[in-house]
Amino acid sequence: MSAFLFVTPTWDGDQWANEMKKALPRHDIRKWPAIGETADVRYAAAWLPPPNVLRELPNLKVIFSLGAGVDAILSDPTLPDNIPIVRVNSPDLTMRMSEHIVMHVLMHHRQQARILANQRNKTWDSFPQHAASALRVGVMGLGVLGEDAAKKLAMLGFQVAGWSRSRKSIYGVQSFAGAEELDAFLTRTDILVCLLPATAETDGLINRAVIKKLAHNGPLGAPVLINAGRGRQQVEADILAALESGELLAVSLDVFGKEPLPNDSPFWSHPRVYLTPHSAADSEPSVICTYVAQAITQFEKTGQLDNLVDRTRGY
Ligand code: NAP
Ligand code: GLV
Repeated sequence: MSAFLFVTPTWDGDQWANEMKKALPRHDIRKWPAIGETADVRYAAAWLPPPNVLRELPNLKVIFSLGAGVDAILSDPTLPDNIPIVRVNSPDLTMRMSEHIVMHVLMHHRQQARILANQRNKTWDSFPQHAASALRVGVMGLGVLGEDAAKKLAMLGFQVAGWSRSRKSIYGVQSFAGAEELDAFLTRTDILVCLLPATAETDGLINRAVIKKLAHNGPLGAPVLINAGRGRQQVEADILAALESGELLAVSLDVFGKEPLPNDSPFWSHPRVYLTPHSAADSEPSVICTYVAQAITQFEKTGQLDNLVDRTRGY
């Protein structure tokens, strides 16, 4: 008996379990806390696993993340250290994220909030609009998601740069690398897009000092922030203060320090905040279960795993 176990206490797992049964018909699909015989479990998918659950699976071979980020797995202090972790790298998820980023860049660039307000007020105001080529977009994180979004923005004509740990060579995208090039990246950026993983190094990175370094001489008059990485990366009080002081024109936030966002958060009603409920790039169960099943088939045939997480980097 080989079992696949979902350890996803904060998710409604029924749809996932049903899709995984279709994708992995020869495995017994189980859902924590109904683990059954622990020795049967060869594979697990985890998101915020309770302590010791994964550690106590003696024959566990691979841990799967059901999303691109793995912070919700690495946060388990009892995570067994010798088990490989595979994360999602799927064209479906990547396309969803690029749609979200392109849509929000365009909404700020084309001043969609102003257009909607004019419509509500029955105001015929065809104000001047600048070209995409006048705007400098900076994408923090040029991994699977950041690279795709950056390329699509470059195709639309924006001046695009990216910031990552290592140097990149992406057609149409200027590369900035490492902490020493962060300031140069920020000072040339009108719209800052964050697609970084949550790690000790990126926690709190989007703070008042970083916001102050963004370009303030662009066509929008003040910079814009779009964060679809993780809430841990943003200092929310600093973002609100920067919106008030004019250091930020507007923000699009998909991720928050506390999710769901509490009812009393000022972000809900702020007129210059575009808010989405961590839905920039959903993991579609049928797509991700097929992806996981293909990874298991390859692993059982060849011993090879792709899209492995480097635990020392934290992503
Ligand atoms: P990825 O392929 O692992 O790419 C991560 C990128 O971040 C890489 O370019 C990496 O640089 C860069 N990076 C990491 N630490 C850095 C640091 N300290 N300084 C500078 N650059 C750093 O990840 P991905 O698949 O693109 O996903 C990125 C993140 O998006 C996920 O971790 C998750 O948090 C978030 N996400 C959000 C949603 C949503 O719905 N809101 C959905 C999916 C994912 P190198 O290339 O040099 O290593
Ligand atoms: C979602 O947030 C993901 O990491 O895929």
